[in-house]
Amino acid sequence: MKTVTCVEDFRQLYRKRVPKMFYDYTKSGSYEEKTFRDNTVAFENLRIHQRVGVDVSAISTDTEIMGKPVSLPTVLAPVGMLGIQYPGDEIEAAKAAKAFGAPFVLSTMSICSIEQVAEATRAPFWFQLYVTKDKAFLRDLLGRASDAGCSTLVVTMDLAILAQRHKDIKNNLSIRPDFKGLLSYAAHPKWCLAMARTPYKSFGNVVGHAKGVDDLASLLTWAKDAMDPCFSWNDLEWVRKEWHGQIIVKGILHDEDAKIACDIGVEGCVVSNHGGRQLDGAGTTVYWMPKIADAVGDQMELMMDSGVRTGMDIFKARALGASSVLLGRAMVYALGAQGRQGVERLLELLRSELKTTLALSGKCDVASIEASDVY
Ligand code: GLV
Repeated sequence: MKTVTCVEDFRQLYRKRVPKMFYDYTKSGSYEEKTFRDNTVAFENLRIHQRVGVDVSAISTDTEIMGKPVSLPTVLAPVGMLGIQYPGDEIEAAKAAKAFGAPFVLSTMSICSIEQVAEATRAPFWFQLYVTKDKAFLRDLLGRASDAGCSTLVVTMDLAILAQRHKDIKNNLSIRPDFKGLLSYAAHPKWCLAMARTPYKSFGNVVGHAKGVDDLASLLTWAKDAMDPCFSWNDLEWVRKEWHGQIIVKGILHDEDAKIACDIGVEGCVVSNHGGRQLDGAGTTVYWMPKIADAVGDQMELMMDSGVRTGMDIFKARALGASSVLLGRAMVYALGAQGRQGVERLLELLRSELKTTLALSGKCDVASIEASDVY
């Protein structure tokens, strides 16, 4: 097997392993993919000061995320349908995260349910909430996440309406494929065999829980109209009252929005353009992160995503004011390629890159990274 040394290697392995529609779903941005492309370019264009003459014999990437010790400033991002990429992927990712003390965020639209992940991992994880119109279902989800011991709720704010990704339409993306999709399944027999064997095949948080959703067919009808486009800051106040743990809002890309979230009393925010999957033409998180840090950085914990592919990017994110980064695509590439082992290898690679970056910029730990370290 090819020696994996970087995220790009995982991407290539992943592309070969899964049917095209699932690869395209991960890889795509919305519409013209301008923001999707800008995200990585913005990180590339940021430079790090090389500094020498410092004793860097003892380097540590240990830090804290939301008050908990971690060995790398990373969070495994919530990604819908993760379990379709590799059998039981949500469980595999949660186990890999546990080994690094990194939080894993389970998506509302995961394949494995909250209870299945809790049962299989016995490690605390975070839960991501899509705000649906059905408030009884939302309340039930919050109760289930709380019963499963989730400390932190990540509320996705930037998906009131789903932006179009052209390839998903062209591929007729679905876990009930059409004839073309079936041909693509057939071209990946190992993936098919693995998926046939896994007990995790449905959307475990929704099927059997949302009103009228008893099977995959009814789920597909439900999903088309489920999100609540009326969701406003007032509704976030409702979530604040219902959820007794920490709340992080995800999808903040303006300092004014960060200030509103802060006033509502959430504990953290993820500066994000959804990996370029929602508003095409939105700014990059590299641009917005320092402005948001200036506005609210002393009042709540800030994280960022959208374009992070290397340990050097993690260094840059810290310099821009983020406590940590969320790994979305990088995680899916690694999981889709090699399951849990892939994610463990990914986190090791990132840690090694971050350590080297710290040493060559004259730092011994992530707490010493400052805004002036990048230009
Ligand atoms: C949903 O959050 C997506 O990006 O597809």
